[in-house]
Amino acid sequence: MPQPCIHPSILSADFVNLEAELARIATADAVHVDVMDNHFVPNLTLGLPVVERLLAVSPVPLDVHLMIEDADRWAAGYAELGCESVTFHAEAARAPLKLARELHAHGARAGMALRPATPVEPYLDLLPELDMLLIMTVEPGFGGQAFLDVMLPKIRRAAEAIRAGGGRVALQVDGGITEETIVRAAEAGADTFVAGSAVYGAGDPEAAITALRRAAHDAGS
Ligand code: DX5
Ligand code: ZN
Repeated sequence: MPQPCIHPSILSADFVNLEAELARIATADAVHVDVMDNHFVPNLTLGLPVVERLLAVSPVPLDVHLMIEDADRWAAGYAELGCESVTFHAEAARAPLKLARELHAHGARAGMALRPATPVEPYLDLLPELDMLLIMTVEPGFGGQAFLDVMLPKIRRAAEAIRAGGGRVALQVDGGITEETIVRAAEAGADTFVAGSAVYGAGDPEAAITALRRAAHDAGS
């Protein structure tokens, strides 16, 4: 397994002080930024202007997770700003291949996310066009929910398909990742881990990042 990547989610950070909150996770591989529109999910967070400012001050690359309805309309804007990766939901994209190519044209990595009830099989043929597949391990919308163990078989099937295709696509999990659940997700084949409350809820976020990375590494090796 490649080195596990830890992406803290700023959804659990102090929104009044985001520059300082980013500085606390400088040892992370990227920062996960949850964009929500109160339509695709029942919650509202931030959009392009805030992401532009985050990019200007972040010590690590931005991994944007779009939980918005009109992904075809908005995703490219995040790539144009300079986000390292932009992930749209399969359920919200009318033309996922066109969208992935647009993201690449703007120099970003293209990710596609699946809600818990969305099967992975219909999307496996798209893997050659993607850089990352995100399997949601909670219903999207809120931080601090419990990891859905029922997603583990889907993670395993996705990991197998990725390996069969040469192992080039990152397999991200998002939701309920802790030092305990990361072990099961890594054993199932995930390599990129979003953690909101487990990092920002800890007294020492950098120590939490190190502990998560080690737990994933030990489980995956
Ligand atoms: C939920 C978001 C997650 C969230 C994870 O819809 O996509 O990124 O921040 O938070 P935790 O790690 O607390 O479950
Ligand atoms: Zn997310």
